[in-house]
Amino acid sequence: MASATVQMKVRPEDLNQVPKSGERIPNPGILVIFGASGDLTKRKLVPALFHLEQDGLLPKNFAIVGVARRPLGDEFAADMREGLIDFGDVDKSDPKIDEFVKKISYYALSFDDASHYAGLKQELDKIAQEKNIGPDRLFYLATAPEYFAPIIENLGAQGMAQPEQGRIGVVIEKPFGHDLDSARELNHQVNAVFHENQVFRIDHYLGKETVQNILVFRFGNGIFEPIWNRNYIDHVQITAAETLGVEGRGPFYEKAGALRDVVQNHVMELLSFVTMEPPSSFEAEAVRREKVKVWRAIPSIPIKDAVRGQYGPGVVDGKKVVGYRDEDRVNPESGTETYAAVKLGIENWRWAGVPFYLRAGKRMKKRATEISIQFKQPPLLIFNRMQASGPCNDIQPNLLTIRIQPNEGIALRFGAKVPNTPNMSVCPVNMDFDYAAAFGTSTANGYERLLLDAMLGDQTLFAHRDGVEVTWSLYTPILEAWAAKNPEVFPNYFAGTWGPDCSDRLLEREGHVWRNNIG
Ligand code: BG6
Repeated sequence: MASATVQMKVRPEDLNQVPKSGERIPNPGILVIFGASGDLTKRKLVPALFHLEQDGLLPKNFAIVGVARRPLGDEFAADMREGLIDFGDVDKSDPKIDEFVKKISYYALSFDDASHYAGLKQELDKIAQEKNIGPDRLFYLATAPEYFAPIIENLGAQGMAQPEQGRIGVVIEKPFGHDLDSARELNHQVNAVFHENQVFRIDHYLGKETVQNILVFRFGNGIFEPIWNRNYIDHVQITAAETLGVEGRGPFYEKAGALRDVVQNHVMELLSFVTMEPPSSFEAEAVRREKVKVWRAIPSIPIKDAVRGQYGPGVVDGKKVVGYRDEDRVNPESGTETYAAVKLGIENWRWAGVPFYLRAGKRMKKRATEISIQFKQPPLLIFNRMQASGPCNDIQPNLLTIRIQPNEGIALRFGAKVPNTPNMSVCPVNMDFDYAAAFGTSTANGYERLLLDAMLGDQTLFAHRDGVEVTWSLYTPILEAWAAKNPEVFPNYFAGTWGPDCSDRLLEREGHVWRNNIG
């Protein structure tokens, strides 16, 4: 396809009009990270906090307390410092690093030992007094999911969840349960201690700029919404393709699989932003209500409309990689899916009859998370009737692609007349908006925004208990059916490809094909 890249650089004077978010600075407080010795803290959370500090978005009096079982002491802060340099995209000589690292300390505790929590409370009080920090606390649960309930219960028992003053919140990393029943039980356990308005169920996709931009694209512009419906849209595809494998997380992934790990949460969040009705405001209650409404309009997904795959050995990014069953600590006869795709519909006035195809996979050909919205063909293809002798006469439907990552941006495909040809030859071209080119900056990893919002008590970009339960109710029957019958032909795709053939057949039934020319 020819490509006409339209330069859409933001004028500096326009950027200057954007209010600096410096007004949104949380109160002095303590962030307590449970499970702090895990990878997430070092790779994502601490670098994100440092970026907030660099941007002047953290309060001056602020402390980060890592909590885990191992007796780490000062080693912890040193390790976080290393993490900042390795993963934080920071300049080693930045003088702010030392200042920031001084805010980090460590407390060793067994998550499920109630007798350890009085000591934690004392430790936090001591830090608060020494550093002149007020009563605000944010508890971040980055542990294995089986510890969520005991930690919450123990915090409650020590009176740490409901103090008389200050803002207390709890951030829960996914997975929020592993099926509908366990999600309900977890919600129940959480809400027995924390009020729902204190609970921040984090889905890091919602922190991505490009994901938030879906709402701006739809509801901050006048021209798209009138055509954003079944009258104009033929079908929608959402792809979350990764080239990574399970990266040493075999035991976790064995129990998860692609449907639980990515489709039920990240992909469904993308779907909700693309399909929800306009909320009355950009406030937590209004946005979350619309999301739940659209998920509730999805009828149960027939088992024939869900396909699973598992990668065998192959070549990814020019390197040979092993198959899933040969990954570290994975069952050599594993039936866990590393690829999942579903077709679903949304039964409401806006979307009735429009198929939505969702897929997520590991060890795929390319890393690309993308939403593509294919519009219907014009009612009469007058140019097709002419005998074109030009270089192409390829009339394709309009396609809007929202690139969540990488190469973040939005492209619109339309037909253009091929110049200097005697006939009306039509060729598809792309009008392309590229985030980095337009704003001259790369987008943050998502955790900055979400951590800041949680500290400020803003729940707009977090999952609500109802939403979690609706999405689990859609996928639990599929997971149960899959668990009941071991897949006959695993592995069924080579690493470094676009997934199993059965996934193509899911679309062929409707005369559609996966868009594999993406990213
Ligand atoms: C996580 C999953 O939630 O999302 C991982 O557990 C997956 O398996 C990751 O790799 C993908 O996130 P991102 O931001 O790299 O698309």
